[in-house]
Amino acid sequence: MEKREELYAGKAKSVYRTDNPERFVLVFRDDTSAFDGEKKEQLNRKGMVNNKFNAFIMEKLEAAGVPTHFEGLLSSTESLVKKLDMIPVECVVRNVSAGSLCRRLGVAEGQELNPPTYELFLKNDALHDPMVNESLAVSFGWAAADELEQMKSLTYRVNDVLKALFDEAGMLLVDYKLEFGRCEGKIVLGDEFSPDGCRIWDKETRRKMDKDRFRQGLGEVIETYEEVGRRLGIQFD
Ligand code: C5P
Repeated sequence: MEKREELYAGKAKSVYRTDNPERFVLVFRDDTSAFDGEKKEQLNRKGMVNNKFNAFIMEKLEAAGVPTHFEGLLSSTESLVKKLDMIPVECVVRNVSAGSLCRRLGVAEGQELNPPTYELFLKNDALHDPMVNESLAVSFGWAAADELEQMKSLTYRVNDVLKALFDEAGMLLVDYKLEFGRCEGKIVLGDEFSPDGCRIWDKETRRKMDKDRFRQGLGEVIETYEEVGRRLGIQFD
């Protein structure tokens, strides 16, 4: 496999073509951003930590029957992935109230949500990722109804697997965001799963162990990501 030119640079990752038209290289950079890119910083080791974190989680999900784009680690900051036709809708499951849910509904942070809630957001920075629903997604042609059904059931399946995984390691999976794409007629999990795209709290103390440390200026961002990883059994460089 040969890495070729950069195809796209996102806020924290870049995508490169390879000599195989069906495979891309994802490069996890140290860039960290929040509030639609308004707050930006370079955090040393973040690319490596998120690349390894994501590899570990994607392998767990694949083993549990969730199809993912992840093919394997190439280096400490690079992974090989399948090329997907991305669906521009973000799927969010919440087990505990936090973040935009609290702002939108004026509810307190930390309430258990039973059953967990499921929300869709349109991927659009200029519009600040507005909340949407299945009906809008179908009418605008972002995804077909059966694809949205599969995305929902896979997002809940991920919750079953990861809630248990974090729980066993003394942590609470508060919420997370997933992105899916199409590959050979199947709905496949894309993007990444790392502490940048989910909320994780210590089960006992409720200490925040995710990107809220960066958003809220709590400090020790990457040290805490590494602690989450180490508790799960991930080895970092
Ligand atoms: O901001 P909000 O509370 O809606 O986020 C819900 C979850 O989705 C959080 O874990 C957050 O980190 C993640 N998220 C994300 N990327 C976005 C929006 C939300 O990773 N663009």
